[in-house]
Amino acid sequence: MATPKIISARFDEKKAHTLEGYLALGGYATLKKLFKMKPDEVIDEVKRSGLRGRGGAGFPTGMKWSFIPKNTDKPKYLCVNADEGEPGTFKDRLILERDPHALIEGILICCHAVGIKTAYIYIRGEYDFPLARLGAAVKEAYANGYLGKNIKNSGVDVDVVIHRGAGAYICGDETGLIESLEGKKGQPRPKPPFPAIVGVFDCPTVVNNVETISALPWIMTNGADAYAAIGTEKSKGTMLFSISGMVERPGVYEGAFGVNLWKFIEESTGGVKGGKKLKAVIPGGSSSAILTAEEARNVNLDYESIAATGAMVGSGAIMVFDEDTCVVEALEVVLRFYAHESCGQCPPCREGTYWLYEIVNRIRTGRGRPEDIDLMLAICPDMLGRTVCVLADSAAIPAASYIKKFRSEFEAYIDKANPPERKLHPGGINFEARAL
Ligand SMILES: Cc1cc2nc3c(=O)[nH]c(=O)nc-3n(C[C@H](O)[C@H](O)[C@H](O)COP(=O)(O)O)c2cc1C
Repeated sequence: MATPKIISARFDEKKAHTLEGYLALGGYATLKKLFKMKPDEVIDEVKRSGLRGRGGAGFPTGMKWSFIPKNTDKPKYLCVNADEGEPGTFKDRLILERDPHALIEGILICCHAVGIKTAYIYIRGEYDFPLARLGAAVKEAYANGYLGKNIKNSGVDVDVVIHRGAGAYICGDETGLIESLEGKKGQPRPKPPFPAIVGVFDCPTVVNNVETISALPWIMTNGADAYAAIGTEKSKGTMLFSISGMVERPGVYEGAFGVNLWKFIEESTGGVKGGKKLKAVIPGGSSSAILTAEEARNVNLDYESIAATGAMVGSGAIMVFDEDTCVVEALEVVLRFYAHESCGQCPPCREGTYWLYEIVNRIRTGRGRPEDIDLMLAICPDMLGRTVCVLADSAAIPAASYIKKFRSEFEAYIDKANPPERKLHPGGINFEARAL
């Protein structure tokens, strides 16, 4: 069965980013039905759909909303996470550029369900064009009564505020985002209390990813059952996958959960570039463990199957390494990123990310010592689960897995008698790709 297009259905429609184009394609059709539904009914519908967060953690969306206190005199807020900082991830960008009204419609669904009157969209600082498209869509929505007071005579008020980040990966963490939104340094907060209870401005807050929110109009239009019919028992629906690396056609592809990982990559992108052999796949962003070619060929693309390998679906950033890719160089790129992006408040992260990067850098540049590989493996466990957010884990997990699965490549760099012939990939390691 062909994968139904839920999130990317309008990506190729030239005018979908305008209100006129969105309406012509059936946009905002859910609103009539939505405002007649009781908030709890909307939450139940989203719960029944099985939708899980697409920002990385895969937390059930309806359940997250139900944690927001009902009887509170504090205002409640929605923060849409458009920070999209995970290396290899470039899917929310397409929603913001090509289908921003779907996000706004999704925001209305969430706000009605939870009783929210103000939604913030925290957008990655580097996203100029997506910001321009999103800003224009919000303006049009206000001008035509889809945002603001008494939306389409429903009695429902929703304001949307776009907040531009300043380029820090850590502000993608939900509590780092909240701190940043409040005008403070973007350093994650200890949890509990969770944002559902004490979020932005100390008020109950839902934080959801752009793609999560953008799936809501389809679910409300087609029903929870139709969404839940796609995918596996626990991984429902579809997800946008940003596929980069050494493939014929890198880009953003929508896939239903439960398909074979490598088959999905091959069918979407045309397989490994230039007919080269597959070496490895990172299934869920640079924070994920790596899969060998054999593992990638034998695993299904859903939260549970990928987790069973020790890797994760994460933000859906799939990176493909061909036979020429140097795993040591790839790990160096990953660790340089985390060392640079650590906010520094937790010592295991501040020191650990930097230390791991220093060691892999000296290995890659021919200065490694025989004991360095085991030293890295000894540092990693001390970084897991010991910090306020999971940035430290995001460095330690790939480091340990790259070394365990490709140890001989690290050893080859340290073996002064037999240094590797080729140290750098001819194309360079670059976790970016042109979108579609
Ligand atoms: C260091 C770090 C960076 C993150 N970056 C993002 C991001 O760019 N976008 C995003 O949606 N979630 C990001 N997350 C996950 C968020 O904390 C949060 O789980 C997510 O926004 C919740 O939305 P969801 O339930 O719809 O996935 C990040 C987490 C961490 C620890």
